Amino acid sequence: MTTTTEPAPTTLTTTGAGVPRAIHVRPLAAGDTATVHEVVGQLSPDSAYLRFHTGMRRLPEPVAVRWAQVSAQRQQAHVAVDGATGRAVGMAQWFRTAGTDEAEVAVMVADLWQGLGIGARLVAEAIRSARAAGVVELRADVLPEHRLMRGWLARLGACQDLSDPTVLRLWIASAGEVPASAPVVA
Ligand SMILES: CC(C)(COP(=O)(O)OP(=O)(O)OC[C@H]1O[C@@H](n2cnc3c(N)ncnc32)[C@H](O)[C@@H]1OP(=O)(O)O)[C@@H](O)C(=O)NCCC(=O)NCCS
Repeated sequence: MTTTTEPAPTTLTTTGAGVPRAIHVRPLAAGDTATVHEVVGQLSPDSAYLRFHTGMRRLPEPVAVRWAQVSAQRQQAHVAVDGATGRAVGMAQWFRTAGTDEAEVAVMVADLWQGLGIGARLVAEAIRSARAAGVVELRADVLPEHRLMRGWLARLGACQDLSDPTVLRLWIASAGEVPASAPVVA
């Protein structure tokens, strides 16, 4: 198994207040459904639709419980926490397909915090941790109209799955550098 070090906290600058804010990226603790709900609760209807592909606004409790069942080899999640308030503002997850070295990856960032590099940092963390668990390919289910996400994943090297128009596949077996953050908006 590959060994890697935990990345240092990232400091981003918010657009609105113009105040430097420390954003800490940490693993989701097993059973921490409150943090899962906290992040989902800060998504606008449009963002929730892009993440869930339905009009669902509140995550059903059984889903939150399943998402919080983290385990080193089977599924992991990382959250971005606003150092000033302790509030979780984003989360990336991967779920291994049982018996394979493939995992599904997903990410969401609270609307007030989008466009600041948090999603990129979380995805970098998902790739790092999945790779460390022996995952070689990530699969992302992205709506065809979600051009931002599709363009971003394509820039990371993802390819369209020819049998499913919503699926993009990203090979992560090679230990290349993962972009850790998008340009920060000052
Ligand atoms: C998609 C999402 C996770 C991106 O998170 P984010 O923190 O806003 O993204 P970042 O600021 O880290 O930017 C990530 C990439 O998107 C690009 N990007 C961000 N905002 C953009 C915008 N408004 N227009 C175009 N590109 C944009 C960045 O340039 C970056 O790409 P790069 O690294 O190649 O330059 C976030 O918008 C979100 O949660 N959306 C709703 C849920 C969702 O769509 N989840 C994904 C479902 S598969």
